[in-house]
Amino acid sequence: MHTNAIMVHKLGGPEEMMWEQIEVASPKENEVLIKQTAIGLNFIDTYFRSGLYPTPLPTPIGMEAAGIIEETGPGVTEFKVGDRVAYASSPLGSYSELRVFPTNNLVKIPDDISDDLAAAIMLKGMTAEYLVRRTFKVESGQTVLFHAAAGGVGLIACQWLKSIGANVIGTVGSNEKAELARANGCDHTILYKEENFVEKVKEITNGAGVPVVYDSVGKDTALQGLDCLSPLGLLVVFGNSSGNAPAIEPGLLATKGSLYVTRPTLFSYNNTREKLVESANHVFNMVRNGNITIKIGAKYALKDAVQAHKDLEARRTTGCILLMP
Ligand SMILES: NC(=O)c1ccc[n+]([C@@H]2O[C@H](COP(=O)([O-])OP(=O)(O)OC[C@H]3O[C@@H](n4cnc5c(N)ncnc54)[C@H](OP(=O)(O)O)[C@@H]3O)[C@@H](O)[C@H]2O)c1
Repeated sequence: MHTNAIMVHKLGGPEEMMWEQIEVASPKENEVLIKQTAIGLNFIDTYFRSGLYPTPLPTPIGMEAAGIIEETGPGVTEFKVGDRVAYASSPLGSYSELRVFPTNNLVKIPDDISDDLAAAIMLKGMTAEYLVRRTFKVESGQTVLFHAAAGGVGLIACQWLKSIGANVIGTVGSNEKAELARANGCDHTILYKEENFVEKVKEITNGAGVPVVYDSVGKDTALQGLDCLSPLGLLVVFGNSSGNAPAIEPGLLATKGSLYVTRPTLFSYNNTREKLVESANHVFNMVRNGNITIKIGAKYALKDAVQAHKDLEARRTTGCILLMP
């Protein structure tokens, strides 16, 4: 059996992604064959394509999608042919029309959640979930700083934080993004390309700083983030959109107020089936009860993944982006 898919044979820019026919094996023990209906675009996909996150070549790419089960392998009891399912994890290979995937990392999509919505929110929604509930349990009334607030994770996190009752400061790359972030729960927006975000955070908090900074931008912002924290505050570096964050000496954390730094990943927070299902259900519930509303930022044909990556890396996208098989 064959399928159309995006493959990477050489690490590099978006143009290294090739639209090809590849072979699909039959599902083995505890695997299913999925006919994919919507694929989530994530910044992490660019790290595997560029080599920032190493993976053997040639490699398929992508970690998030929704679809319908077409065939089940031996031993599969929790899922059947025709089930609508979604996932947000390895093995890489969601940029494909058909694919085989292990059931351990799969969840059923509830009837009231569309395939597009599931593909848009699985990875970014579960990331927002663990960041604001588990990495640092944000409480009502707390002021927090969230970088790249108009991005995929950003718009979901802003709404999640708002529903908790937090006062959200978000950094954004343009006035249009600032407006969008505010419409999604951001109380204060900072244009961090033009304004000094440390000074702005101090101004907004009357000099006190914030107990937590959520930073997915990395290289360009992480160190300055330490100066936004109140004593004993936590810097959460959860991404590298501008490149890897620099090393931080423990001594620096002492002089800046007994601070903490963590570099979390969704995959260590949802490292058991129970945690994955619980996290996904939290996300679906947040959508169901109206706390989170998702407007898909843009849809690209899967074969146009090159353009989607160019737009994502050039900071031209907002919110959740889908690739359509
Ligand atoms: N650790 C985890 O568990 C985990 C899970 C999911 C995602 N992430 C991370 O979270 C971040 C957001 O992911 P996403 O898929 O939702 O992407 P996204 O936020 O939609 O896109 C990245 C955004 O980062 C900002 N940015 C700042 N400097 C940039 C630069 N030099 N190049 C490109 N973008 C830059 C841009 O927003 P502005 O124009 O507003 O600055 C851009 O839109 C990524 O860093 C990703 O790796 C981590």
